[in-house]
Amino acid sequence: MLQINPDLSDLVTDAAAGLTGRLQTKATITAAAPGRVNLIGEHIDYCDGFVMPFAIDRYIVIAGCANGTTNARITSAISEEIATLDLTQPQEISEPKWANYLRGVIRGFQDRGHHIPGFDAYILSSIPGGAGLSSSAALECATATFLEGLLDTVLDTKEKALLCQKAEHDFAHVPCGIMDQFASAFGKPNRLVLIDCQTGEPELVPFENPDLTVLISNTMVHHELSDGGYAARRKHTEDGLAVLGKASWRDVSAADVQGNWEKLGDPVNRRSRHVVGEISRTISAAAALARNDFETLGPLMAASHDSLRDDFEVSCKELDIMVEIARKIGRNGGVIGTRMTGGGFGGSTVTLCESRKASEIAAALGAEYEKATRIKPQIFASRPSQGAHLVG
Ligand code: GLA
Repeated sequence: MLQINPDLSDLVTDAAAGLTGRLQTKATITAAAPGRVNLIGEHIDYCDGFVMPFAIDRYIVIAGCANGTTNARITSAISEEIATLDLTQPQEISEPKWANYLRGVIRGFQDRGHHIPGFDAYILSSIPGGAGLSSSAALECATATFLEGLLDTVLDTKEKALLCQKAEHDFAHVPCGIMDQFASAFGKPNRLVLIDCQTGEPELVPFENPDLTVLISNTMVHHELSDGGYAARRKHTEDGLAVLGKASWRDVSAADVQGNWEKLGDPVNRRSRHVVGEISRTISAAAALARNDFETLGPLMAASHDSLRDDFEVSCKELDIMVEIARKIGRNGGVIGTRMTGGGFGGSTVTLCESRKASEIAAALGAEYEKATRIKPQIFASRPSQGAHLVG
């Protein structure tokens, strides 16, 4: 039941072949950027909170080369379509839609005064789309890294991540926080990317215990609500902070929320309770993980899920079912903690478990979930991996 993660080197070979097959040219620049999974700290990256994601060993690879023209020709393994971009102009939102992520990143470079020469590119991904694993952030970071190769320049990693976040805001109209692009840009093997979203500083925290395995369970559902739902949640948190009269969520206590419950009104009061609780849970979880205190970590992940389900209302039936199955397997069955991960409204759960029981747990999750929903999930293990980089 456990899926095998495709090797990055195989993806690179396949992307080069794709480029030659589709655009009859040879790859001289290849960039790779990973997706991410978040262990805890959900929907608080835009609230000055802490988040604890890592870059997964699933990548978007862009293989390409300069083409001597003033146009970009971009295509992908997903569709035969070739997007042609006029690079003499500042990039704007256009058709096809999937190319907007690339346009947004190119625009970020153009705004910094870079002249982008014509290029050909082919995109290949091993990150399941719509699974809450940040394939869009990976596409942005892979594009930025590809452009670094093309221009023979290197951006500061934080600047690169922020440029990619702006592309997501302006060209995909998702008012996301900084977690996904930071995880994809800063990720390192055996390291979590613990981000203080108030200072915007990531800390690479060791995560190398071979006895621990992180399982990602893709429910294979993605509810339409997601587009407006994310922006609406972000707005609720902004409204909450305004009612509380504070400059930052870091200055708000649980007692502040409780004391202003009626004034905040529903649902802003529950959204606020989530933010304050999740910030405190993430700080505690980072400390618990550092001392291998799994008996503390598990309940924190459980409380995070419950809060996302009941107070923040970004879970869904399928995510709850997957989490319940893992909870039933429980500590005795090798499950340390489990919760939904990412923006929600579908997507994936993350389950921290004992490595020796990981295959058994994955099999049970797969079978029980399919029995309950008639949907075949996708379940794979992931280890913290190298962030965006040029290959070769
Ligand atoms: C999406 C956003 C992130 C973050 C998560 C929820 O992945 O892109 O910035 O807000 O949702 O934690």
